[in-house]
Amino acid sequence: PEVWAVVPAAGRGRRFGGPRPKQYLEINGRPVLAHALDALLAHDAVRGAMVAIAPDDADWPGWTERRGKPVHTCVGGAERADSVLAGLRALDGIAPQDAWALVHDAARPNLALADLDRLLAVAFAQGDGAILAAPVRDTLKRANAAGGIAATQPREQLWRALTPQLFRRDALAAALAAAAGDGIVVTDEAMAMERAGAQVRLVEGREDNLKVTTPADLALVEFLLARRDA
Ligand code: C5P
Repeated sequence: PEVWAVVPAAGRGRRFGGPRPKQYLEINGRPVLAHALDALLAHDAVRGAMVAIAPDDADWPGWTERRGKPVHTCVGGAERADSVLAGLRALDGIAPQDAWALVHDAARPNLALADLDRLLAVAFAQGDGAILAAPVRDTLKRANAAGGIAATQPREQLWRALTPQLFRRDALAAALAAAAGDGIVVTDEAMAMERAGAQVRLVEGREDNLKVTTPADLALVEFLLARRDA
């Protein structure tokens, strides 16, 4: 089946601080967003990308293609989920009705092709969709209001949801619209699909597929990318 990348890049990076949103900071001469897009478009099954950007985005470099594949843009929304839904809808008339949507954070520049390949294989074999995820390594504590520990959460079955996340485009759009209609802000695509009753598969991905959230993350990703490309 045909796969289209949908990249939410409309965040303003308030937690990161600084003059530019984090997806536009440069690593080894290319913006974080370029690394993310190129990693997606590197897969043969991925036909092109739809990038959701902020309405007043002054940093968008104006790409119309990368790696010989089309790059389209649309205007994102107030929450990440709104940006993803806008991207899915903007693919009307560009991607076929039965296309799959490969949703990936603009702020994750270190996606490995092997992880992407396994994600596609699992999603296509299973049916409802799949996400990259990493097992939780630390012991998890639930805090009480006083800042003490209320409980320790068994971590055996806990995973961290990463991106990309791969679903049928029409099913994902319907699930995101339903969540928004119910006033629920979903923080990833799988959460919307789970609410819709889908069986979503976890595909273990590399832990170094980091989301750049703080300046320390940027330094770490810079190191990882330099080592990978060496
Ligand atoms: O803020 P957070 O790190 O969770 O953002 C994850 C991704 O979602 C980023 O690539 C960011 O640009 C994007 N985003 C968006 N629209 C928003 C908020 C975040 O596209 N309203």
